[in-house]
Amino acid sequence: MGDGIIEAMIKFPNDFLWGAATSAYQVEGNNSNADWWVWEKAVGKENSGDACRHYEFYEQDFDLAKGLHHNAHRLSVEWSRVEPEEGKFSQKELQHYCDVIQSLRRRKIEPLVTLHHFTNPIWFSKKGGWAKKENLSCFVRFCDVVTRALAKDVHYWITINEPTIYLFHSYLSGTWPPQSTSRWIAKIVYDNLATSHLEVYRRMHDIYKELNLLRPSIGIAQHVQAMTPSTNSLLNQFAIYLRHKICNFNLLDRLNKHKAMDFIGINYYSRQMVDVKKIGLFDLLLKMGKDNSPEIQKNSLGWDIYPKGLSQLLLKVKKYNLPVIIAENGICTLNDEQRWDFIDQHLKSVHHALAQGVDVRGYLYWSLLDNFEWHQGFAPRFGLIDVDYKTYARAIRKSAIKFSEVCKTGVLV
Ligand code: BGC
Repeated sequence: MGDGIIEAMIKFPNDFLWGAATSAYQVEGNNSNADWWVWEKAVGKENSGDACRHYEFYEQDFDLAKGLHHNAHRLSVEWSRVEPEEGKFSQKELQHYCDVIQSLRRRKIEPLVTLHHFTNPIWFSKKGGWAKKENLSCFVRFCDVVTRALAKDVHYWITINEPTIYLFHSYLSGTWPPQSTSRWIAKIVYDNLATSHLEVYRRMHDIYKELNLLRPSIGIAQHVQAMTPSTNSLLNQFAIYLRHKICNFNLLDRLNKHKAMDFIGINYYSRQMVDVKKIGLFDLLLKMGKDNSPEIQKNSLGWDIYPKGLSQLLLKVKKYNLPVIIAENGICTLNDEQRWDFIDQHLKSVHHALAQGVDVRGYLYWSLLDNFEWHQGFAPRFGLIDVDYKTYARAIRKSAIKFSEVCKTGVLV
């Protein structure tokens, strides 16, 4: 091999985790004990219904992942299945998740298990959900039960997926259940989510010790966005500083202070064009402009595609001195060449961060399958694998094959 070719190759570490992510509600189907199930019907949104029927077809789906050379897979445990009534845990559903994990282990695919991915049991929401401090013990108890059931086969855990996104949609913009828009309640929920992570983190480590198991790796999945200013005004610069501090990193700073993360899960999709014209917390934190320049590509939901933002953010995360796993990064598009281009560019960005000394340990594409994209329904297509929602047939996309070569060789050519 000539030197030129070696130089053109991008090589990732040998033990890198390669795979894709899903969440229970988005793929399993029929999660009728979840608050989202009731809400979808009440507001007349597209219903999640059978979703991808992954609850039944997980073995086949994992065969596909294995065939694509994935060595890791992120999934979530649906709280409302495991504890459909307060305090009553379903042994059948716990066994289901044990089987799912075993099924990954048999295929030598490392599971990463999320304990909360946006949905709650109906009974928990009826009690006031995350807005009531006294309800946190319910989540801790659920995590305790699941940890004991799965501990011997799970090393990587994510306690809560994207607390700030959940907070924003469910408690600030009012887009998701319970559709609250009170800033005061949002602050309480934010504190409660952070406190829950701290409590669960400690409890889970204690359980592993009690069971004489090797120390697990427990983190959180934080959604981060790159920021670019519409103009270099002082106001825009100040807004960017605030947004990084508050929206991207406040939670990580807080958990890190308590030494309550063994790794950091980073979910990255897009960037914000920051366009602030007047002082005020709303504008400083949320006001956005649009970049319609031809060089900025968009996904099918209109989000800007901005690969270099990922390495910019990873370099900021370096200060925590912790391992990082890209827990989600993906694109919804009907153009599969655009999907491969997205993956290729973002992997280059990850590699750039690795070369600068960021301890990135893995990359999980969002998502393995097309799935239920929350209030946007089934139209956005994020999957490496296409799902036909009439027949539930799966079809591997070309981008998945290209990605599988990287998973197999650790090399991006
Ligand atoms: C969430 C996923 C979601 C994806 C694409 C992430 O914020 O964790 O549940 O499907 O983004 O919107």
